Amino acid sequence: MKELLESIRKKAMEEIAQSEDPEALRIRYLGKKGELTAVLRGMGSVPPEERPVIGALANDIREQIEAALAAKAEEKKEKELAHKLEAEALDVTIPGTACAVGRRHPLAQTENMLRDIFIGMGFSVAEGPEVEYDYYNFEALNLPKNHPARDTQDTFYITDNILLRSQTSPVQVRTMEVQKPPIRVISPGRVYRADPADATHSPIFHQVEGLVVDKGITMGDLKGILELFAKRMFGKETKIRFRPHHFPFTEPSAEVDVSCFVCGGKGCRLCKGEGWIEILGAGMVHPFVLSNCGIDPEVYSGFAFGMGIERIAMTRLGIDDMRLLYENDVRFLHQF
Ligand code: DAH
Repeated sequence: MKELLESIRKKAMEEIAQSEDPEALRIRYLGKKGELTAVLRGMGSVPPEERPVIGALANDIREQIEAALAAKAEEKKEKELAHKLEAEALDVTIPGTACAVGRRHPLAQTENMLRDIFIGMGFSVAEGPEVEYDYYNFEALNLPKNHPARDTQDTFYITDNILLRSQTSPVQVRTMEVQKPPIRVISPGRVYRADPADATHSPIFHQVEGLVVDKGITMGDLKGILELFAKRMFGKETKIRFRPHHFPFTEPSAEVDVSCFVCGGKGCRLCKGEGWIEILGAGMVHPFVLSNCGIDPEVYSGFAFGMGIERIAMTRLGIDDMRLLYENDVRFLHQF
C-alpha cells in the first residue's frame, strides 16, 4: 500500500511539474474517481493497526498534490497576465491621430441666425409639410387655378391637387387655420421648383416665411421688424428700402432691399454696382387670405414676408455660386 501511495506521489508530482492543465490533473488524482481516492477506498483491506499510518501518508500526499496544483495554477495565471500585458502593450508616446472637428453647414448657420433673430423678437417657429395640397400652396393664398402668377413658380405637381410646395407661404394658411390672433410665427423650410440648377437656382432650396396678425398691424410694423432684422443679420449700419411689387397674397406688396454691407451703398462687386441687394418679398396680408383662413379682415390685419435662405447665406458669406452649397466639398465648407 505504502509503495503504491509513494508511486502515485512521484508520478503526480512529475506530471504536475510539466503540466499545462492543472485542473485536469486535480480530477485525475483527487477527483471522485481519482487515483488517490481509489487507493483510499481500498483502506478496508489494510490491517487495522496500519490504517493510521497509511491514512496519514495518504493525507500528506493529498496536501502535497493540492499545494503543487495551486502553485501551478498561480504560475499559469501569472504567465497569462504577462502574455496579455505584452500583447496589449500601449505606446503612449506615439503621436495621436488628429480628429477633424466638424461644424454646421453655412445654410444651417444662416437658418439658425434667422431663427435666433426672430425668436428674439417674440416669434415662434411653425412648420408645414413639403408635400402640399394645391389649396394651401396657391388657392388659399389668393392664387386660384389658372392665375397667371402661378407661372412664376415652376411647380412640381404630383397630382392635380398635390404638389411639392414651391414656397413656405402655405404655412401661413395652416397657421391661421388653427391659431387665432395674435399670431407671430416664422416658418423656415425646404421648397421645390422645377428650375435647372445654375449659379442662382436650384430645384430644392430653402425659405423663411414670416407672419404677424393682430388688431391694428400696419406697414409701419412690417418696416420696423424688417429693419431690425436687416441690422442684426447684416450689420448695424444696414438700411432697408421698399420697392412696390405684386404678390397675390399681399396688398400692398413690396420687394425689400438692404444697403450693401460691403460698400455701404456706393456700389461694388457684391451689389453689382447698385448699392442695394434684394433679399425678400413682403406685404400686408391680403383680406381674401385672412377670410380664407377664418380671420375677419375687418377686425384684424397682418403682414407677411418671405425670403430665400440661400440668398441670405450667399450674400452674407460672399458665395457666388449656389451649387457650392450642395456639393458638400469640405474644402469649400471649411471656410465658414
Ligand atoms: N412666397 C414668395 C415667393 O416665394 C415670397 C413672399 C413674398 C412671401 C411676399 C410672403 C410675402 O409672405 O408676403 O416668392
